[in-house]
Amino acid sequence: MLKIDQVVSREVLDSRGYPTVEVELISGSIRASAIVPSGASTGEGEALELRDGDAKRYLGKGVLKAIAHVDREIAPAIVGREFHNQAIFDDLLRDLDGTPNKSKLGANSILPVSMAFARLHALNLDSSRIHPLALTEHLAGLFGSRGVTLPVPLMNVFNGGKHADNGIAIQEFMIIPVGFDRFSEALRAGVEVFHSLKKILHKRGLTTAVGDEGGFAPKLGVEAEAGPGSHEKVLTLLLDAIETAGYRAGSQIALALDCASSEFSKKDGNGCVYQFEGSPRTSADMVQLYEKWVSQYPILSIEDGLAEHDWEGWKLLTTRLGSRIQLVGDDLFVTNPEYLKKGIERGVANSLLVKLNQIGTVTETLEAMRMAHHSNYTTVISHRSGESEDSFIADLAVASDAGQIKTGSASRTDRLAKYNQLIRLEQALGTRAKFRGRETFKSW
Ligand code: PGA
Ligand code: ZN
Repeated sequence: MLKIDQVVSREVLDSRGYPTVEVELISGSIRASAIVPSGASTGEGEALELRDGDAKRYLGKGVLKAIAHVDREIAPAIVGREFHNQAIFDDLLRDLDGTPNKSKLGANSILPVSMAFARLHALNLDSSRIHPLALTEHLAGLFGSRGVTLPVPLMNVFNGGKHADNGIAIQEFMIIPVGFDRFSEALRAGVEVFHSLKKILHKRGLTTAVGDEGGFAPKLGVEAEAGPGSHEKVLTLLLDAIETAGYRAGSQIALALDCASSEFSKKDGNGCVYQFEGSPRTSADMVQLYEKWVSQYPILSIEDGLAEHDWEGWKLLTTRLGSRIQLVGDDLFVTNPEYLKKGIERGVANSLLVKLNQIGTVTETLEAMRMAHHSNYTTVISHRSGESEDSFIADLAVASDAGQIKTGSASRTDRLAKYNQLIRLEQALGTRAKFRGRETFKSW
């Protein structure tokens, strides 16, 4: 039993300099806090992120209303009460809100309370109160997993789409260091490739400033910017960087994309039309292009290759590529068991992207992951483009044995906070630590 004595909330800042919510829960002599992240390329089905809309503060992006909900709606309902477990606690939060998409209180008021409760409970159960694995072990207990698998990092070293202003439609170009025995070795290889990419860009006179997730975001030249072949230029750049760093592309370091294609598509009748490299494309055109790339480049995973409303297109994509690569649903599933169920029934995608704030509580996040694993869908734990120093997702990745994490490039402390936490967890697990590397993608 865990009794909540006090709730403290505050408006803090995320990695883009926009306000977000931090909540602290206090029980006796222990306290635990959590900060909620924020997306830019959000799926329409996501739980609501409540913003003040007061143009005089933070360009309308203040979160004082969400803070007020924590203080006036949530705190009175939980302070002085004892809770047996996370599910009971999260059920109460859901009941307080009472809407399907957390639109009354806002997911940004509910989730930090839910995450802070998980931390508080973990500390309460850990008699030392400071063990580095406390949260990981606690979440593993909730999920029913071993909680020993360090995730393969999908490192977003080249940013486009809504996370940059370089005209590149695809949002994320990632490297996946799969050919290594340990997480820390895989991470080192990924980081070295990041530095080698920087040198290559610099030599070619391209800017090495970084985008929201810490990857490079150069304009590739006026005529290439939005035109034919610009995306393949990026893929070739990544191969160059891998080889220049002394690694083998494919066997040691593979590639992944998050197209976030809802952002460059429009509804068209029952389907969608995609504005890509200067011309309109059908879903079938996009699928054909991805098939070509998968044959030419060591691509192991494509996220949101088609738009969130394009279920017919997604079916085609899965039929054509689902046995060859991982197809991850982000905007498509929004970490929501209902959407995921529809995908499983229709044979759409084969992997779930996991973002806590898309659904709004720890319990529902674990429920979506459980459903995915039962149906042999892989799971990729993910940050948001607006992040903070909170490294909860690193613990969640190890705890759930998900095997994959997407938490940006090798720059910006908001991204490295997660990698550093994974390094700590690997050390704390010692000989129990597992790293599955390429085995993670064994279905393909
Ligand atoms: P977002 O981007 O946090 O801006 O939604 C991340 C992603 O699309 O995976
Ligand atoms: Zn995505």
